[in-house]
Amino acid sequence: MKGRSWAINAAWFLILLPCIGSAQSPVRFIQAKKIFVLDAGNISYVFGINDKNMLQHIYWGKHVWRDDDFAAAQSLPEWASFDLTTTTTPQEYPGWGAGLFVEPSLKITFPDGNRDLVLHYVDHKIDGNKLTITLKDIERSVLVHLHYIVYPQTGIVARDATIENRTKNSVVLESAQSAAWYLPRGEGYRLRYLTGRWAGEWQLNEEPVHPGIKILESRRGSTSVQTNPWFALDRDGNTDSEHGSVWFGALGWSGSWRISVEQTPHQQVRITGGYNPFDFGYYLSARETLITPPFYAGYTDEGIGGASRVLHEFERNEILPNGSGSKTRPVLYNSWEATLFNVNEAGQIALADKAASLGVERFVMDDGWFGGRNNDHAGLGDWYVNPKNFPNGLGPLIRHVKQLGMDFGLWVEPEMINPDSDLYRQHPDWAMHFEGRPRTEARNQLMLNLARDDVREYIFHWLDELVTNNDIAFLKWDYNRNFSEPGWPEVPFAQQKNIWVKFTQNVYDILDRLRQKHPKLEIESCSGGGGRVDLGIMQRAEQVWPSDDTEALDRLTIQRGFTYAYTPHVMMDWVTDVPNFNGRSVSLQFRFMTAMQGSLGIGANLNHWTSEDIALAKQVIAYYKSIRETVQNGLLYRLASPTQGNLSASQYVSPDKSQSVVFAFLHSQQFGRTVSPLLLKDLDEKGIYSVSRNDGKAGKTSAAVKLSGAYLMNHGIEPELTGDYDSVSFKLDRVQPN
Ligand code: GLA
Repeated sequence: MKGRSWAINAAWFLILLPCIGSAQSPVRFIQAKKIFVLDAGNISYVFGINDKNMLQHIYWGKHVWRDDDFAAAQSLPEWASFDLTTTTTPQEYPGWGAGLFVEPSLKITFPDGNRDLVLHYVDHKIDGNKLTITLKDIERSVLVHLHYIVYPQTGIVARDATIENRTKNSVVLESAQSAAWYLPRGEGYRLRYLTGRWAGEWQLNEEPVHPGIKILESRRGSTSVQTNPWFALDRDGNTDSEHGSVWFGALGWSGSWRISVEQTPHQQVRITGGYNPFDFGYYLSARETLITPPFYAGYTDEGIGGASRVLHEFERNEILPNGSGSKTRPVLYNSWEATLFNVNEAGQIALADKAASLGVERFVMDDGWFGGRNNDHAGLGDWYVNPKNFPNGLGPLIRHVKQLGMDFGLWVEPEMINPDSDLYRQHPDWAMHFEGRPRTEARNQLMLNLARDDVREYIFHWLDELVTNNDIAFLKWDYNRNFSEPGWPEVPFAQQKNIWVKFTQNVYDILDRLRQKHPKLEIESCSGGGGRVDLGIMQRAEQVWPSDDTEALDRLTIQRGFTYAYTPHVMMDWVTDVPNFNGRSVSLQFRFMTAMQGSLGIGANLNHWTSEDIALAKQVIAYYKSIRETVQNGLLYRLASPTQGNLSASQYVSPDKSQSVVFAFLHSQQFGRTVSPLLLKDLDEKGIYSVSRNDGKAGKTSAAVKLSGAYLMNHGIEPELTGDYDSVSFKLDRVQPN
């Protein structure tokens, strides 16, 4: 009897074992129903192989714990004779063929004139949190390997596709997308996205989703400021900033990209993103593959605020070059707005002395140090130290900076060339051009054709030499124009359009090799401001420059927009001189408070600062160092928006709730009205916080008071702001935890 019950128990155990194992696994395949369940963080993402062998989307949203609830995928019927099952069925990665009228994920022209592509499931492989599914055309040897990675902590799903041409001939990819995402079927969605122009980046747009298609894109060859590759969707009216379902995503690609947000006639919202199909025509030789950019997407039920926080955490832990080991950003000085092109050893040393005395940790020399670069008409391409301005090379300046206890950084713009340069005189063919056509200059410069491997090698070698021969900790990598005349005459005609992809692949290649060879080197991505900020470049850059507009009031809106998609950790912000953009002059305190909401820098001419300015700067820089861990790596809550009314405020909370920092700004006071208390978020309710106020007018931190988390969240904190352009920061340190 005993033996029998043991055998029964063992049998049960063996039956249950796969279930126990699978319950813990973030990726499961349920054979009986042929469905895949991706399950992590707060989300479930479910799709299956349907009756027609298509890959069909089933669910994406808040975590559903019971796999049994999901039925097998069943293709949807045609709608009359017009919308065929190809169109009505939500396919995970549809090829353009068999009467597809929604946005395709892949469209191919074959050399025999065939343009029909129907992708069916072949097999799959699960490896921990990774899933690879192979699809194949029903007749031709074109395979697509879909990769899914689900990130356990944040519930972000990353998708890309490897398109493999196993036919004997080359094919042309007219469109190669990374993924199609589906929202729960229905209407009433609202789309948020970020647009801008030079010095006016990161403007948040909100609009209802209607039937039809909305295109977010860059055709410029780089990420661009015009639109950033990020989206967020929610149900209009059912969500506020901290509550309600939000689906969001971002592309990891720094070349031309596109995200289309489509509402089909069948109440299905679908988002497709990847390479921009405009002028794409990618030539894929026989036996070759093309990998699409990663498309990351997530879900939260904590409103748009929660969506940002999930992305911030994901970026810090999974995207940035050192992931969760990313170093706290140092306080930086950059000489650009102080000197423009007028750089020389003595001038830079004088600025470095002053910067070090304030508590600056990194000194960066900007444009003008190389070749014949005395203005923006010449020199790009000639990356040797200007012997007139630096007769002894960079050595004496760098040594001086290091003796002052700072590290040294340098500005470069590797992808560009001025026609007035030795490099252009030697290699006019290296500039991007169409044979016999004019070459359009922008800021007096052309683009190098970095799709060429010889150009790539040239750039890698001078950068490597520069960093090897000089003690350089940091490069500000700039990119000050977009593509024009994107020709590549040196390769056969059919392959010339590959420039759109190859250019960016080679930029990544240089950055990857440089970083590998110089593991301590840090990089800032800049493109005349925020023109190259995306999850592709952020895998290779510790920080980014959001905008050339450093005027503090504008900056509040710019920074707010930026943080919808990207973490304050990477957001470089400078305090600069006034009057600045808009002819506006605001106090130094206001400028510091604004810039302290991300990674703090100074870009002012310190030679012009008074002793009071210097005293204030020393005090607030020391203050910033006591809060920066929370600002850079904490949870961001938007308390009041600079675009609605005249108050803006933000709050940062350390993940363990032991510290919180608040910034508040009054743009203009009217009718003598006092500002209402700010209701803080996410504190330890039972904890006691020591609250100190950094008041710009006094220029120092006032005595702390002790208040409970419950009081601070429910009664709030009085900002006591008056007049025009007043600002304050509060630091809350938990002295008595719950
Ligand atoms: C761009 C950058 C600026 C500065 C200049 C130098 O505009 O955004 O910060 O580096 O180039 O030419």
